Amino acid sequence: MALFNLNINGKMHEVDVDPSTPMLWVLRDHLRLLGTKFGCGVSVCGACTIHLGDRAVRSCQLTAAQVGDQPITTIEGLSENGDHPVQKAWLEHDVAQCGYCQPGQIMQATALLKENPNPTDEEIQEAMYGNLCRCGTYTRIKAAIKTAAKS
Ligand code: FES
Ligand code: FES
Repeated sequence: MALFNLNINGKMHEVDVDPSTPMLWVLRDHLRLLGTKFGCGVSVCGACTIHLGDRAVRSCQLTAAQVGDQPITTIEGLSENGDHPVQKAWLEHDVAQCGYCQPGQIMQATALLKENPNPTDEEIQEAMYGNLCRCGTYTRIKAAIKTAAKS
């Protein structure tokens, strides 16, 4: 076990975990930030997507030891009241069905728009390719990203 001081959603958190513990489990089991979801555990579904700095990363593949002093943002830290432009666009387009994949989808889309504020359809498809949705909400996700880009 080792002590890590992690900057998560703008606050410092001290956690005592095995250095190889995936951040997905640090967030969910140690900090009870349950918005980040477990899907596959092997980086192929995107349900566990968070931000490391401004980059979207799979928290099932990021160990506590790899974080260092880089800030982490989870879906809980995206906005105080769920009013981030991407979250508002998601509501406007009624994107979610069961909702399980949606925190990861929103974190991936937010990172895309930070890097590329006006993505083409192809760029959206490329950026969102690794975020799977068993309910098939892909068309609404793309529409919501376009709405968020306008705002
Ligand atoms: S749980 Fe991390 S990519 Fe699927
Ligand atoms: S909304 Fe159900 S898995 Fe995406």
